[in-house]
Amino acid sequence: MRIFRFNEIDSTNKYLKEREDLKDYDCVIAKTQTAGVGRRGNVWVSNEGMAIFSFALQEDKNLSLEEYMRLPLVAGISVLGGLKKIENLDYKFKWTNDIYIQDKKICGILVEKIRDFFIIGIGVNVNNDDFGYAQDKATSLKNITGKFYSTEDIIFCIINEFKKYFSENWEYVLKEINSYNYLKGKEIEIIKYGESLGSGIAKDIVYEGRLKVEIDGEEKLFNIGEIHIK
Ligand code: BTN
Repeated sequence: MRIFRFNEIDSTNKYLKEREDLKDYDCVIAKTQTAGVGRRGNVWVSNEGMAIFSFALQEDKNLSLEEYMRLPLVAGISVLGGLKKIENLDYKFKWTNDIYIQDKKICGILVEKIRDFFIIGIGVNVNNDDFGYAQDKATSLKNITGKFYSTEDIIFCIINEFKKYFSENWEYVLKEINSYNYLKGKEIEIIKYGESLGSGIAKDIVYEGRLKVEIDGEEKLFNIGEIHIK
């Protein structure tokens, strides 16, 4: 596993996507990013004190597209598992792949595809207390415990958890994910491309990684969308 370290970089995901000689589990770690990328093209504010990293996963032709569709969820439960090993707090898994604690977001994950690699980019709020425009919606480990943490210990713990979960049986991983399901029982609205796809009560995450939502007494399954909690 090669590790590339930077004090400052534009984006760790972009760095790996641009490397022509990419190898499985290449990992890039940065103290800050000047152009951090979030999901749906959002800017990801990347302050010092965060664990900011990306790693590459080489596509295995024996695995199906469905198996790779689970990657964001597997990455999410790996962050939760890694954080639990460092500090055992009451983390929740917010479908599709955010980790929450005390109703605030502590981590963001962006999975991208380049050639025959998946790039898994993760930003965890660890020692920082500035979350940019998301100030009232985010928190960090230090904010909660008052302690200071080694971001590298957290990064390697998360990657180890990922290796473990990625090779595990999916039913087992999904059971784990559902045991931390933040949305379960909450009234939510699914919004995609600015359009409401409906409101209802969130249930479990099902085998294909979709979220079950009960709308007007009927159970519906949703793919990745933007979730609004009422
Ligand atoms: C989200 O929108 O929640 C996903 C945020 C992902 C941020 C991480 S930080 C490391 C990696 N590099 C990036 O530019 N983005 C990801």
